[in-house]
Amino acid sequence: MDNMEKQVKSLSNQMVERSFSVQHRDVTFDLVESSIKSSIFEAVDSLLTNEPRGLLLLGPVGSGKTSILSLVLGLYIEKIAERYMKFIQKEGVRGWEERLYRDTFGYCCENYHFYTHDDLVSKLRSIKEDTQERSEFFHREPAEASRKLVLVDDLGRGYDDKGGWNLSLLDEYFDYRWKNQLPLFITTNKGATGNNSIRNWTGWERIVDRLCDSKFMTSIVINRESFRKR
Ligand SMILES: Nc1ncnc2c1ncn2[C@@H]1O[C@H](COP(=O)(O)OP(=O)(O)OP(=O)(O)O)[C@@H](O)[C@H]1O
Ligand SMILES: [Mg+2]
Repeated sequence: MDNMEKQVKSLSNQMVERSFSVQHRDVTFDLVESSIKSSIFEAVDSLLTNEPRGLLLLGPVGSGKTSILSLVLGLYIEKIAERYMKFIQKEGVRGWEERLYRDTFGYCCENYHFYTHDDLVSKLRSIKEDTQERSEFFHREPAEASRKLVLVDDLGRGYDDKGGWNLSLLDEYFDYRWKNQLPLFITTNKGATGNNSIRNWTGWERIVDRLCDSKFMTSIVINRESFRKR
C-alpha cells in the first residue's frame, strides 16, 4: 500500500468512527450479499458523476442496514479523499505533503452529514424559526450538491400517525433534495410490500413517493431475520 492509499484508508476509518458504533464498523463488505454489494458500489460511484443516485435500504430490525450504511460512508470517503488528494498533488500546492492529510480531513468532514431520524427531526426543528439558518440549510447545499452526501439512519423511527409538523418539515426537506437530485442514502425498518410497507405510512405519501422514485433512489430490500438472534 503506498502512502496516499494508507492516508485515504485512515481518513475513511476516522469518518466512519465519528458516526458509527463498533458493532456496525466491524461488518465488512465480505459479509454482505453480492447483489446488495453491487448496488452499493454502483450508487456510491454515481455520487462522483453528474447524476448522483440515492439508496433506500428497507429491511426488518437487525437485518444489517446501519452496518451497510457505515460501509457506504467508508467507501464514499475513500473516493472523495483520493480524488481530493490527487487534485492537490497535481496542482502542486506548496507544502502539500504536510497539509494534505489535515486539509483532506476537513474536506471529508464537510462533504457528508450523518443523521439518525431523531437528529434530522431535531435539526429541522431547530432551524424552523431561524430564517437565516433555514435559508442556509436549504439553499447553500446545491453549490456542493454533486459531492455532499446525506445519510439518514432509521427513517420513521417512532413514527405514529400524529407526526404533525414533524412531517411537514421532513416533507419540505425530502422534497428539496428530490427536486435538486441531491444525494441521499436512507435506511428504514419498513418493507417494500405488505402490511409493513413503507407505502402504508399515513401522511408520508408525498415523502415516500419521492423516495421510491427510481430515477432518484435505488431501493434495496433486505429479506432476512435479525443477525442479533444468532
Ligand atoms: N452481514 C453481516 N454479517 C454478520 N453480522 C452482521 C452483518 N450485518 C450486521 N451484522 C451485525 O448484526 C447486528 C445488527 O446489525 P445492524 O445494527 O446494522 O442492523 P439494523 O438493520 O440497522 O438494525 P435496526 O433495525 O435495529 O437498526 C450488529 O451487531 C451487526 O454487527
Ligand atoms: Mg439500524
